[in-house]
Amino acid sequence: MRLTMQRIGVLTSGGDAPGMNACIRAVYRAGTRYGLEVYGIKNGYAGLIAGDMKKLERLDIANIIHLGGTVLGTSRCEEFKTLEGREKAEIKLRERGIQGLVIIGGDGSFRGGNLLSLETGIPIITIPGTIDNDIPGTDFSIGFDTAVNIALEAIDRIRDTAISHGRLFFVEVMGHSSGFLALESGIAGGAEHLILQNSKEEIDILCERLKDMFARGKRHAIVVVAERDRPGCSFDISKTVSERLSMDSWVCVLGHTQRGGSPTARDRILAAKLGVSAVIGLIEGRSGVMVGELMREVVYQPISDVIGGRQDLDPRMTKLSKIISN
Ligand code: F6P
Repeated sequence: MRLTMQRIGVLTSGGDAPGMNACIRAVYRAGTRYGLEVYGIKNGYAGLIAGDMKKLERLDIANIIHLGGTVLGTSRCEEFKTLEGREKAEIKLRERGIQGLVIIGGDGSFRGGNLLSLETGIPIITIPGTIDNDIPGTDFSIGFDTAVNIALEAIDRIRDTAISHGRLFFVEVMGHSSGFLALESGIAGGAEHLILQNSKEEIDILCERLKDMFARGKRHAIVVVAERDRPGCSFDISKTVSERLSMDSWVCVLGHTQRGGSPTARDRILAAKLGVSAVIGLIEGRSGVMVGELMREVVYQPISDVIGGRQDLDPRMTKLSKIISN
């Protein structure tokens, strides 16, 4: 491979996701394999603006493949949304001689990265890392599979109590405006019902279904709720349903438990593929692209095509969930 680059940087940005460490490791391993120096930038864009970065050594990334969170630290950085903030970041990158940047994060992080690349000409490749799986242009984002499995374990545990006591439980999962976590953990956990949109119609349908179920003699039910834009929304849903059906219900908001913990094999493998491909992409002269995986193929797509787009739920999966939760 022809090398015009000698030094690249890597940072994690936005909400941490299991598998980010495996991805940092992959970037480092690929970078050094191809003769590059790899700089680790601390705490996302906040660290970039502050110039908080250091050359990574082998020991820095040793024994991190199985760790949740991100050893580089992360942030949601308001200053980087401003031109002044990005100008400060450019100065720090140029001072350190960093000629290419790998950014692991979600949609918001991609926007900033894309602007920085356009404004400065510094080559940037982004990697989807978010438990929400809401990034178009890749079948899965790093962290999603782990988060689904954590939610699944919680649902399985709650089921023990639901069955033993004959209770109605609402289990709320993260995912921000996308319903992927709810859909996949609900199907895998055998939820009696899924609330993916939290509309009045959905609550009406849920109440009818629960009435039917309990009239048929069922003693318990688990309803998986997507938080959407209102974390904690399941408390209102629980109250409404309890009042309408004149029965008690329990709420469990899984919250940040879904973001932590050791990444699954799927997430580690995806992290390895995308981390290595990002470095190869930079060496090949690509810039302003996200590297993702579609149908098992690694693909590079302009970040501008990806940001702001929606990764819609697969209607075949929502149909499937309705058929099997009946
Ligand atoms: O984007 C990841 C995510 O965990 C969402 O699912 C959730 O809505 C949000 O981050 C929570 O953000 P924070 O950790 O900043 O409260």
